[in-house]
Amino acid sequence: MNQSNVKPVHVVFVAGKSGSVAVMKLSPDMWIPPIERKPAGVPKIVALGGDGIGPEVVEVTLRCIDALGVELEVARPIHGTDAVRELDNPLPDETKRTIDAADAVLFGAIDTSLGNAKAALLYLRFDLAMYANLRPVTSVDCIPSVIGGDNTNLVIVRELTEGMYPGREGQLSDLTAKWPEYRDRRGKELPKEGAFAIRVITPEAVKRLVKFGIRLAKHRKDKGYSRGHISIVHKANVLQTSDGLFAEICREHIEESGLSYDEIYVDEAARRLVAEPQDYDVIVTSNLFGDVLSDVASEVMGGMPMVPSAAIGDTGAYFEACHGSAPDIVGTGKANPAATILSGAMMLSYLGQTEAASRLIDATLGTIRSGTMTGDLGGSATTDSFADAVCGWLK
Ligand code: IPM
Ligand code: MN
Repeated sequence: MNQSNVKPVHVVFVAGKSGSVAVMKLSPDMWIPPIERKPAGVPKIVALGGDGIGPEVVEVTLRCIDALGVELEVARPIHGTDAVRELDNPLPDETKRTIDAADAVLFGAIDTSLGNAKAALLYLRFDLAMYANLRPVTSVDCIPSVIGGDNTNLVIVRELTEGMYPGREGQLSDLTAKWPEYRDRRGKELPKEGAFAIRVITPEAVKRLVKFGIRLAKHRKDKGYSRGHISIVHKANVLQTSDGLFAEICREHIEESGLSYDEIYVDEAARRLVAEPQDYDVIVTSNLFGDVLSDVASEVMGGMPMVPSAAIGDTGAYFEACHGSAPDIVGTGKANPAATILSGAMMLSYLGQTEAASRLIDATLGTIRSGTMTGDLGGSATTDSFADAVCGWLK
């Protein structure tokens, strides 16, 4: 197929509920606002393939970035399974130092049942505090969607450092022994047997998250990409104290910003993601809710193998597909690298290479439109042949 004959990539979106519809080219800054952390010299990036199909999709992404002609210094430090085998440590100090010195990290995937690459992900999320997890879901005209029609252009801004995720769990017998006087909202004691999990919401974490969400929503509004609306998603009707705090801090900051907002309980938010995803603009939510909602929303874009993500902190960022490590298809060539390639585009945008990021998005979606796609989208391309086609598009 002659790719140059294929029409350019567009996304159709509704700018507001008023009925005005605009057609626009998908641009990386719909997904990630300008961060202004452009490295002085050649950007240093760290590639961490992780588990399962992670290394496969990361390598082809680097090949696509190379075809763009963008100069990057790429380090591939030992981590995960290899590091456990060779050094009995999934994340050696030397690897941590390489990550610390990098401008950005391109991450593959982790298999939580293996636990090996998890150390790297936890280091990025919790030690380096890459807290704002941007998960954009955009209708693209080359990918049939099971939900939402053609007009979805939303970004989930998921908190990535607290909530249920730090793994604060234990036995109820230990908790009741240490805190015998604890009573729930109904005045009841804790059961003596079983397990508990602590969900923590802190004002600092919510504040930095919502400020990032506001920055993104303002940028999208200023550029005419969307109406500049934030949906605060929580469950404060049940989690009155923790999500009460989450909602209150979000509300205060958004009110100050002058943007419009609404508050939606997470169960209703999930229903609306299926029924009318096009009504969302920016969603700000806590860690576990964002995890679940991003999987649901991915169906707008053809499913998990398509959805990219960025996790931005105050001093660094990592970029990773939303999907998992797909251990069942490792080495078969069946993995769809699109989400990681699109995450690579978000990384380029973060590094100030917006034009290259835009070309990479066009090439990826253009390749799909021209009929080259992996099995999950109904095609017969392999991970490599898909990447070859993207590279061909870029030459
Ligand atoms: C994701 C993944 C991870 C998460 C897992 C692998 C720990 O599902 O990035 O969405 O739950 O955050
Ligand atoms: Mn997930």
